[in-house]
Amino acid sequence: MTFENLLFETNDGIATITINRPSKLNALNRETILELHDAFLAANQDEDIKVIVVTGSGEKAFVAGADISEFADFSVDQGGDLAAKGQELLFDLVANLSTPVIAAINGFALGGGLELAMAAHFRIASENAKMGLPEVSLGVIPGYGGTQRLPQLVGKGRAMEMIMTAGMINSKQALEYGLVNHVVAQEDLLDLAYQIAGKIMKNSSVAIASAIKAVNANFEKDVDGFDVEIREFGNCFGTEDFKEGTQAFLEKRKADFPGR
Ligand code: COA
Repeated sequence: MTFENLLFETNDGIATITINRPSKLNALNRETILELHDAFLAANQDEDIKVIVVTGSGEKAFVAGADISEFADFSVDQGGDLAAKGQELLFDLVANLSTPVIAAINGFALGGGLELAMAAHFRIASENAKMGLPEVSLGVIPGYGGTQRLPQLVGKGRAMEMIMTAGMINSKQALEYGLVNHVVAQEDLLDLAYQIAGKIMKNSSVAIASAIKAVNANFEKDVDGFDVEIREFGNCFGTEDFKEGTQAFLEKRKADFPGR
């Protein structure tokens, strides 16, 4: 697939989506959000893709936020619409994909950039990465899920401080906060993402999709996550992957999951 503002590569069951507007620190303009929507959907629909890695091009930024130049003169309605459409098209889409998404944060992840990384299923970062939600310094608040996902990941007090101060934390602090799972040198970041992807890919992709649904249910209002777990657990028993996984264990061999 070819895009104006993204690079989309697939290799050995892994799709790498690279946001590619380095001269604007990969800021998310409208076009880039639409392209990301298409790229994530395409990767999720491709049965051969088992893991999606999202990162930013260049050495400076993952994504330095939503493109401020696009919304500077918006009205109340346009602002609300911007957040609603963005959440639906990209951020909620990513969070609920059945294919695992790893955000490889290679530099600044600010505002919508951190929100995109937080929508991913988990995050790794390079040593130079800086993360923050600076929206209140612009007179606005995070609108792509940041006020919800940051407290889920780091706790209410830390999220409140990060949002109110509009400050940035470095990757070491992000690791301490549990915002990222691993920190490595920038040149090793994608290798680490692919190494983790390799471990994920050995497992049943249908079971992983069920696990994503069940874990996400923990954060949905009016949904009992335990009920979702019970339903998804039961569903696994009807899959070919379950038959292969249990059979392979009993036969003392490695499972070769058909992904169905
Ligand atoms: N929206 C639009 N353009 C952005 C952007 C954003 N969120 N972030 C960076 N850019 C653009 C800059 O305008 C500049 O473009 P120009 O060269 O055409 O003037 C280019 O990217 C490089 O950024 P610059 O500010 O010169 O780099 P820096 O190293 O001095 O500072 C940051 C880096 C990340 C600290 C700074 O760019 C910044 O604060 N960005 C905005 C972060 C933000 O508030 N995000 C939340 C948005 S809701």
